[in-house]
Amino acid sequence: MKRTLITTALPYANGPVHIGHLAGVYVPADIYARYMRMRGEEVLLVGGSDEHGVPITLKAKNEGVTPQDIVDRYHGIIKKAFADFGITFDVYSRTTSDTHYQVSSNFFKTLYEKGEFIEKTSEQYYDPEAKQFLADRYITGICPHCKSEGAYGDQCEACGTSLNATDLIDPKSTISGAKPELKETKHWYLPLDKYEPFLKQWILEDHKEWKPNVYGQCKSWIDMGLQPRAVSRDLDWGVPVPIEGGEGKVLYVWFDAPIGYISATKELTPEWEKWWKDDDTRMLHFIGKDNIVFHCIVFPTMLKAHGDYNLPENVPANEFLNLEGDKISTSRNWAVWLHEYLEEFPGKQDVLRYVLTANAPETKDNDFTWKDFQARNNNELVAILGNFVNRALVLTHKYYGGEVPAAGELTDTDKATLAELATTKEKLQKALDTYHFREALFEAMNVARIGNKYIADEEPWKVVKTDPERVKTIMNICLQITANCTIALESFLPFSMEKLRGYLNVDALAWEDLGKADLIPAGHTINKADLLFEKIEDATIEAQVQKLLDTKAANEVDSYEAAPAKDNCSFDDFMKMDIRVGTILEAEKVAKTKKLMKLLVDTGIDKRTVVSGIAEHYTAEEVIGKQVSILVNLEPRKLRGIESQGMILMAENADGKLEFINPENEVVNGSSVS
Ligand code: 2FM
Ligand code: ZN
Repeated sequence: MKRTLITTALPYANGPVHIGHLAGVYVPADIYARYMRMRGEEVLLVGGSDEHGVPITLKAKNEGVTPQDIVDRYHGIIKKAFADFGITFDVYSRTTSDTHYQVSSNFFKTLYEKGEFIEKTSEQYYDPEAKQFLADRYITGICPHCKSEGAYGDQCEACGTSLNATDLIDPKSTISGAKPELKETKHWYLPLDKYEPFLKQWILEDHKEWKPNVYGQCKSWIDMGLQPRAVSRDLDWGVPVPIEGGEGKVLYVWFDAPIGYISATKELTPEWEKWWKDDDTRMLHFIGKDNIVFHCIVFPTMLKAHGDYNLPENVPANEFLNLEGDKISTSRNWAVWLHEYLEEFPGKQDVLRYVLTANAPETKDNDFTWKDFQARNNNELVAILGNFVNRALVLTHKYYGGEVPAAGELTDTDKATLAELATTKEKLQKALDTYHFREALFEAMNVARIGNKYIADEEPWKVVKTDPERVKTIMNICLQITANCTIALESFLPFSMEKLRGYLNVDALAWEDLGKADLIPAGHTINKADLLFEKIEDATIEAQVQKLLDTKAANEVDSYEAAPAKDNCSFDDFMKMDIRVGTILEAEKVAKTKKLMKLLVDTGIDKRTVVSGIAEHYTAEEVIGKQVSILVNLEPRKLRGIESQGMILMAENADGKLEFINPENEVVNGSSVS
């Protein structure tokens, strides 16, 4: 077998990581790396933070700090979150490292010297006050399609249209507010079009085995026709363009980021070249679907043009994970953040790893819901795996003081059970070798299912009363199945399987042993056991759902758009309105209506009836005694047969709730509002 280099997409260091990252990239990559290591293969799992790009500079500007401050902050948080979740990186680096600057700079120079780039001068927006070229994200203006204000130079967020900065009506620089000017600038372009025949052959003919979502996306890019892509930018945050004429320009973030995989390997080992250049190394890129074009088309073209490096053997990209029906979004805080999860579910890394794998977005976008999280924990981890191993361990202590009994003669059921167990390895390997991690997890859990069914059917707790010899065989088989769980489930649930090995008092078992029924010898003593998993209660889940509902409510307030102003009215017209402060004396819901409440109000002038549309928001008890503002000279009108003499003034909240307009301190009824 060849050695395997596994790369994982470098997350942008402009925010913490969430369940979408884990499900799409890092958990599957870690499962695969652990599996390969168990098989005795030479493996490297490489990762790091992507620390360049415009969003990082924008965030720094908003916070009044430097881009380096931003990436220092998040690199630490991200690195820790991955370590906490047991992602076994051999190296987790960052694209602001010295090595990376050298490696990416040299890579660019090599392509430049080989004449691989096209140099092109084009007109781009320039801020005359800030004296710098503007990335599309730095320009806002009116969207030419939907006419909303505040559209970005690359996209209008109101209507979703992709834009060119030059399409914007009335463009403005977000740096200085100045009107940007078009100015000529030179950039270097990677001629993807020139590599189209190579890409067609290499992907569409030679890699038909790639996942359909990956192959399909590549095919549609190639079918549309590839264009040269600029690999430099007029920015001051990034790796400087290392050639004459490159002053004030940096490498495009998508040019330097994938080279980060090479830099990280070089930082890790002086033997880095064998991992990138030897024929007996295979490379795999684990990524999310938004990165497919860069890892299947752009980066391979860069590697091919350079000439020294291997191309990836496979790119098992995943689709997206949604959260409770909505797209995960950092800016809307619609996410389950890994560091927060660990504060709220300490020690439960494996539960999340399990749920995210069981429900991984392998072939289509999937949804994470807290209900499903609870159900998979309670009905699968607790009820199947936890229940089985706990029974096996506890009964061994109870009947034999923790000493593994010897098996006697096997019944037909015993033989059938062990025969089924023996099929696990092949099924599991087949799923893992083809990157079908959901299916692989199902096969691995089958070991626990086999055990759980066996112990429930054999009922050793009953047999012990009539045939204690037979129980020795049953318990021996249960312990062998438990030992098999530690192999089959190790790469998925590493924290729990380490615990389980501790309970069994065994060292890590070899992959080759999976399916065998003689893993623990008779006479071996096991340790005291504790529960592997515990039930998650409804209240815990409800609290998480409530947290998300609160986020949603806060977002609605943030995104509240005030209605446009009405036409002016004259002072005299305004003065015609007689608004007073009054007190609600009585209140009752109007029968057979949802919204209406009949109020008796002391206006200071009189006591009168007003029908108000507040019944969905308040009970009668809540409003009695409240001071309110009331328009007393509104023409009376009948609502559901009741004459309403005036109108109570209300403000409507972002979520549609009505709030009373009342004086800050109590005033005498009849006071005029003006
Ligand atoms: O989409 C992203 O989050 C990018 N930062 C991924 C980069 S992957 C690689 F090329 F480094
Ligand atoms: Zn628009």
